[in-house]
Amino acid sequence: MLLHPFLNDATSCASYLFGCTSHGALAVVDPHADLVDRYLASADAVGHPIVAVFETHVQADHVSGLPELVERTGAIPYLPAGAGVEFAHHALDDSALVELGNTHVRAIATPGHAPAHNAYAVSDLRRGSDEPWLVFTGDSLLIGDVGRPDLHVSGDPLGQARILHESLRRLLELPDGVVVLPSHYGGSVCGRGLSSNPISSIGFERAHNEMLGYVDADSFAEALVKDTPEPPPGQARIVAANRRGAAGAPA
Ligand SMILES: [Fe+2]
Repeated sequence: MLLHPFLNDATSCASYLFGCTSHGALAVVDPHADLVDRYLASADAVGHPIVAVFETHVQADHVSGLPELVERTGAIPYLPAGAGVEFAHHALDDSALVELGNTHVRAIATPGHAPAHNAYAVSDLRRGSDEPWLVFTGDSLLIGDVGRPDLHVSGDPLGQARILHESLRRLLELPDGVVVLPSHYGGSVCGRGLSSNPISSIGFERAHNEMLGYVDADSFAEALVKDTPEPPPGQARIVAANRRGAAGAPA
């Protein structure tokens, strides 16, 4: 299995090229509009096509590279069911499976940061059969923090935070050894106390992420809405562009 992280320091966004090199089926998760050429160059360098593009949720802090990647490669766009976008896509319900050769991608519905949000648990049939090896958590579980609950649903951050609490319980059902790859790291306004280390594990976050220590959803919600940063600049325009999905939308 191939895994190539892309860290975009301008917005503290992480995205990933991954997939099966045995069967020549690559994918990108949470692509950034500024990095499309780089995803394509990396795929070209290993000689395999990008056949799928995954979004964990409609992004609020940066314009997605999904429309341009889909237009230039013919890849299938996958979004969480209920994402509310205006372009053709394949909607993934909870537990839906996408097979990229030996790389299997299982959707885990993890709403709360956004009302439609999926994490994607990835297994490599050449390693450990169908046991997940890593999970793309998007903006649900971050490294040292969790996603903010106020960006995508106005007026009910406590309610969204309670929903996120339930989603995080689901992620904690994964084994401790599963690698956690979120879509943001230190410097992002999508959380408050993110580490600048972009990679962790379920076990390390279970042990050391304070926000995972709240067993009670109400206490979690009250802690989560404290000290929320300002929304990302241009949020409404960015969300509108990402819902419309036009390739080459201005960043
Ligand atoms: Fe987000």
